[in-house]
Amino acid sequence: MSIPTPSKKILLGITGGIAAYKAAELVRLLVKQNMDVQAVMTASACQFITPLTLQALSGKPVLTDLWDNAGNGMSHISLARDADAIVIAPASANFITKLVHGAADDLLSTLCLARGKCPLFVAPAMNVEMWQNPATQRNVAQLAQDGIAVLGPVSGDQACGEVGLGRMLEPEALLEELETSFQPKILQGKNVMVTAGATFEAIDPVRGITNLSSGKMGYAVARAAQEMGATVTLVSAACLDAPRGVNVISVVSAQNMLDTVMAHIAKQDIFIGVAAVSDYRMTNPKPQKIKKDGNALSLELVQNTDILATVANLPKPPFCVGFAAESENLLKYAEQKRRQKNLPLLAANLVQYGFGGDENTLILLDEEGSHPLPTANKLTLARQLLQHIASLLGK
Ligand code: PMT
Repeated sequence: MSIPTPSKKILLGITGGIAAYKAAELVRLLVKQNMDVQAVMTASACQFITPLTLQALSGKPVLTDLWDNAGNGMSHISLARDADAIVIAPASANFITKLVHGAADDLLSTLCLARGKCPLFVAPAMNVEMWQNPATQRNVAQLAQDGIAVLGPVSGDQACGEVGLGRMLEPEALLEELETSFQPKILQGKNVMVTAGATFEAIDPVRGITNLSSGKMGYAVARAAQEMGATVTLVSAACLDAPRGVNVISVVSAQNMLDTVMAHIAKQDIFIGVAAVSDYRMTNPKPQKIKKDGNALSLELVQNTDILATVANLPKPPFCVGFAAESENLLKYAEQKRRQKNLPLLAANLVQYGFGGDENTLILLDEEGSHPLPTANKLTLARQLLQHIASLLGK
């Protein structure tokens, strides 16, 4: 099963500021994601970067003049209405002021005013003093009140030599914000719990048993669920930055993970076990560091409770999704796990691909059979997995 990312039409407005050079990279990233980019530059933007650069990257002539438009002279209206989003990056202090007051004295400001319901994203970039000026702060607050998404700025070194808030959000971060906004809100109103990372079972105060999981797949699933409108709880045995808007509860051992999951499971609609949970723990972890004495060392291990199976066999279970990492016989072993644990859906991956990296290849197994998802980054796969879950839930 392959779910193509729908191609989106982005109208990218570039205003006058040194961060205009970053617009070139933004165009490149958007085009790489199959987005159709129409660049529109103000006269000031053309002082910083040439339209030819953006034309080469977007594959389309760049529009700069309200009066140069072909057609019936109404292209400022059709351009804005045709777009899936308008992004102004960088947005100068002056252009923000124009947006606030509804000015329409050039092509970009005119099409922003004529945009109708097309979402508008603004990425401010300016000197720290200009950003902190009460006039700019008033204007930015007004943009937010008008339903315009303000992305950034961030703090750091500035082209003028000063340091502080005012740097434009990096192109990768802007792309991420846009992609997030395009996710269908198909999990609105749902509570989703995800487990991630590798649990750690102490042998003594300095040693332990663990697995190879980095947590990246589980964090991607949590982020994708949040983007789709769910309220997400991530029970994590990994040390990664929390996805925005996700409630992260950190745990260490399989028992911690089990206790945390069970404490919050009653209100969950969907449970997705991505964690590589230790199957065994020490019967009696040693309170002091074990000393080497030249002899073989035997450790007595006891099996941990299976968290996913426990949840799936509750009297009123949430919709349960398992993961299985196998080194061979992927489909056979994964389907066995799905049936043994009583799961409507399981995502199977080969250990060679799944652990640690940014990409993965998944095969989804459900009552209908297997649905391969081609190799992609973990966030893309997570989105496809959640779309599959939503379709099984009838959304
Ligand atoms: O974190 P990354 O580096 O991105 O790697 C991702 C991953 C490879 C860890 C992930 O994609 C994955 O496959 N996770 C499951 C690993 C696995 O093989 O688990 P398992 O076969 O031991 O368990 C099967 C399922 O039962 C899993 O959903 C697991 O979370 C769950 N389980 C297992 C044991 C246990 N005691 N409790 C559980 O809930």
